[in-house]
Amino acid sequence: MTSAVQIEVYATSAAASLTCAAEAAARAAAEPELVLGLPTGSTPRQLYAEMVRLHRAEGADWSRVRVFNLDEYWPIDPGSVHSFARFMREQLLEPGGFDPARTFLPSGTVERGAVDRHCAEYEAAIAAAGGIRIQLLGIGVNGHLGFNEPGSSWSTRTRLVELAEVTRRRAAPSFFPDPVPTHGISMGLATVLDAEEIWVLAFGAEKAEAVAAALEGPVGVACPASVLRAHPRVRWVLDEAATARLTRSR
Ligand code: PGA
Repeated sequence: MTSAVQIEVYATSAAASLTCAAEAAARAAAEPELVLGLPTGSTPRQLYAEMVRLHRAEGADWSRVRVFNLDEYWPIDPGSVHSFARFMREQLLEPGGFDPARTFLPSGTVERGAVDRHCAEYEAAIAAAGGIRIQLLGIGVNGHLGFNEPGSSWSTRTRLVELAEVTRRRAAPSFFPDPVPTHGISMGLATVLDAEEIWVLAFGAEKAEAVAAALEGPVGVACPASVLRAHPRVRWVLDEAATARLTRSR
């Protein structure tokens, strides 16, 4: 297993986010039809805000960049304040000047009987775009990547998954008084590993254990993010707090 793990530690999540946004903009300038895989969650908020600022204030052009979202709740209406479709639209895609025809998310409204076909089509769309060039990821406190919860096989592709209890519990305050969906549609771990390059962002003390498990713990399905050790080009973008449990990697 060859792996070139790159670990970057920043004083703050803001500093890390600014660096990643600037680098993404440089990559899009060099390759306008860049294919990005993007996550939702609290982790990428500052990154997306800076990508928007770069577009508005410094002319960064995201209009030809293709975007595939990592996951979406299922079922969920794309207009719901809880949907990842709405999060992406509001936080990045509309204010950043992305082309809606070039941005793709798993559907939260596809019928149960059509989910498998939808997931296969999502994988086919990624392949038709030439594959994901840069996959950005957050990491769950339980080491999940997207909705690939502990126990997910490394050979998984985009599919309907049941959310882990801890994932639903963490989402509960923002859903209140609505219940958190029990399922999501997520790119699989094999989908993530297919990306040419992966940038994993993890900020704050609450992520320290998952970061240490992913980088230094046993490689296996108990910690989905440990799969990243099988990828040749992974960049870990951390703040100081997220490194607290690392012993060997720093
Ligand atoms: P967060 O979620 O960015 O909201 O912490 C990341 C994740 O659970 O994958």
